[in-house]
Amino acid sequence: MTSKYPGPRVRISRDRNLAWWRRILPVMASHRATFLLAIGLSFLSLVFQTLVPNMLNGAIDHDLVRHSTALHSDVVRILIVGLLAGVSGIVSRQYVFRTAYNVEADLRSLIYEHLTWLSFGFYDRVQSGQLISRANSDIRSVQMYSTFAPLILVQCCIGVLAFGFMLSISPLLACIAMTVMPILYFVGIRMRRVMFPISWITQARLADVATIVDENVNGVRVVKSFAQEEAEVNRLADAAERVAWAYVKDAQIRGKWSPWVQNLPQLGLALVLFFGGWMVIDGHLGIGAILAFNAYLLMLQAPFMMLGQLVMMGQRARASAERIFEILDETPEIMERPGAYDLADVRGSIDFDHVRFSYSDDAEILHDFDAHIEPGESVAIVGRTGSGKSTVARLVTRFYDVDDGVIRIDGHDVRDVTLPSLRDHVGVVLDEPFLFSISIHDNIAYGRPDASPEQVEAAARAANAHEFIERLPEGYGTVVGERGYTLSGGQRQRIAIARTLLVNPPILILDDATSSVDVHVEAGIYEALNRLLAQRTTIVIAHRISTIALASRVLLLDEGRVVASGTHEQLLASTPLYAEVLAQSTKPEED
Ligand SMILES: Nc1ncnc2c1ncn2[C@@H]1O[C@H](COP(=O)(O)OP(=O)(O)O)[C@@H](O)[C@H]1O
Ligand SMILES: [Mg+2]
Repeated sequence: MTSKYPGPRVRISRDRNLAWWRRILPVMASHRATFLLAIGLSFLSLVFQTLVPNMLNGAIDHDLVRHSTALHSDVVRILIVGLLAGVSGIVSRQYVFRTAYNVEADLRSLIYEHLTWLSFGFYDRVQSGQLISRANSDIRSVQMYSTFAPLILVQCCIGVLAFGFMLSISPLLACIAMTVMPILYFVGIRMRRVMFPISWITQARLADVATIVDENVNGVRVVKSFAQEEAEVNRLADAAERVAWAYVKDAQIRGKWSPWVQNLPQLGLALVLFFGGWMVIDGHLGIGAILAFNAYLLMLQAPFMMLGQLVMMGQRARASAERIFEILDETPEIMERPGAYDLADVRGSIDFDHVRFSYSDDAEILHDFDAHIEPGESVAIVGRTGSGKSTVARLVTRFYDVDDGVIRIDGHDVRDVTLPSLRDHVGVVLDEPFLFSISIHDNIAYGRPDASPEQVEAAARAANAHEFIERLPEGYGTVVGERGYTLSGGQRQRIAIARTLLVNPPILILDDATSSVDVHVEAGIYEALNRLLAQRTTIVIAHRISTIALASRVLLLDEGRVVASGTHEQLLASTPLYAEVLAQSTKPEED
C-alpha cells in the first residue's frame, strides 16, 4: 500500500544536539527564494527611506534657502525615491507573509503527519486536545520569530545607515539625538518583561473559561440532571472574574509604561530642536538638517523598540520549538520491522502464545494469556470488567505490542507483517464506536472508499442498520456526528459494525459491540452475523448470554490468564467463577 500524500517536502534536522534554530533551518531553507527576496526588497525599501531625509536636507538648505531653481528637480527626485521605497516595501511585505505562512504550513503538516504515525501508547500519555492547541500556538511563535527576526535585524542595519547620515550632517547633534535611544531600548525591554507574565496569565485564564463553557455545553445533560446549573454559573463567574483581574492588571501596566514609550522619542525631538536650533542660529547648521534629524529619529524608534521585543520573541520561540521537537522526536513504538511482509490469504487461525502485557510498568494486565483459535472458529471472551478483554483485542491488531510471548495469525508473528495488511485482515468493532461528521454512506465506506452503494447497503443490512438508515431524513446521505444528525448508541454501533463488515475481514473482533443495542435489535444483528460468522474467525467480547451463545467456545479470562475454556454449558457446569462473572456483568445492564 503506498499513500498518495507526499508529505512535507522537508524535515527538521534529526540531530538533537543542534541549537533549536539550526534544527528548523531546513524548513526555512526550503523557502529561501521568497525569503531572500523579501529580505532584499525590505533592505532596498529601507535604503530608499533613509535617503529621503538626507535629500530633504539638501533640498531645503541648498535650494529653498538660496531660492535655487534646482528645487523642482529635487522634489521630483524625492518623490521618485519615496515611491520606490513604498513599492519595494509593499512587495517585500507580501513575500514576508508568504514565507511566514508557508513555513507555518510546513511545520503544521510535519507535526500532524508525525501525530498520525505515533502509537496508542503516546495518546494514552498525552491529552490530544491540549496537544493540538499547544502545537498550534507553538508553530505560530516559531514561525513569527524565524521570519520576522531577520527583518528586524535588517531594520537595525538601516538604523546604522541612518546614524551614518546623521553623523555626516552633524556629529555632535547625532550624538545628542541618539541619547534617548538606549533609554527607549531598556524601557521597551522592561515593559515587555512585566507585560509578558500578565499576558500569559490572561491567556491561561481565558482557556479556563473556554474549558468551563465547553464542559457545560457538552455535559449539559449531567449538569441539568444533577440540578447544578447555579453552581456551574458561579464557577463560570469566578473564572470570568479572574480573567477580568488579569485584564485590569494588564491595562494598569500598559497605562504605566506606554506614556514613556510614546513620549521618549518626543524628548529626542525636543533635544534636537533645542541644540540643533542653537546651532542653526549660530550658523553651524542648516534648517534642513533639523528636519532630516527629526525624520531619522522617527525612523530609528521602531527598530530600537523591536530589538527588545526580539529578545522576548526569541525566548518564546525557543521554548515553543522545544515543545515541537518533543513531539517530532517521539518515535512510534509500533513500527514495521525492516523486511516486514504482507499478510496474505489468511485462513484465520490465531495463537496467543504465553502473552504478557502491561500498559505501564507498574501493573501487568495479561500475565500468561495462552489461547489457540482455529480458522473459522468463533470464540467468546468472558471476564470481569477490567480483566483485560479489550486489551486482548488491541494486541491482535497491534495497537500495542506484547511485552513477552507471541501472537500469531496463521503462524505469522503479527510483528513480522506489514501494519496495513494486518489491519486489513483483522476487523475490530470497538465498544465506543466513533463516527466521523460525514454522511452515513461515507462512514460505512470509510475503510473501502470505492465501495458501491449496493455494497454499502448490503453491509448495512447485515448489521441490521439498513431499516433505520432508510427512515432518516436523507437516508444514506444523512450527515452524522458532531455537526450532524444525532444517532442513538445502538444505531452508532450498528453503523460501526457495517463499516467493519464492508471490509469483509477474515478475522473479526467484536468488542462489546452490541452492548448498547436493544435485545430485539440484537437478535436481528445475530441472525445476520451468524451467516457471516460462518465464514470467518471471530472473537466476541461479551457478557450477554445471547451474545455468548453465538460462539462455539468460551474463554474465561481472569487475573490476566485464561482460566477455563469450553462451551457455555460446559463452563456453567464446571466453573463456578463463570456463573459468577456472568451474573455480575449482566446485573448492571438496563436493557
Ligand atoms: N490505555 C490504557 N492505559 C493504561 N491502562 C489501561 C488502558 N486501557 C486499559 N487499561 C487498564 O487495563 C485493564 C484492562 O482493561 P480492558 O482490557 O479495557 O478491560 P476489559 O475490556 O476487560 O474491561 C484495566 O485495569 C484498565 O484500567
Ligand atoms: Mg472492554
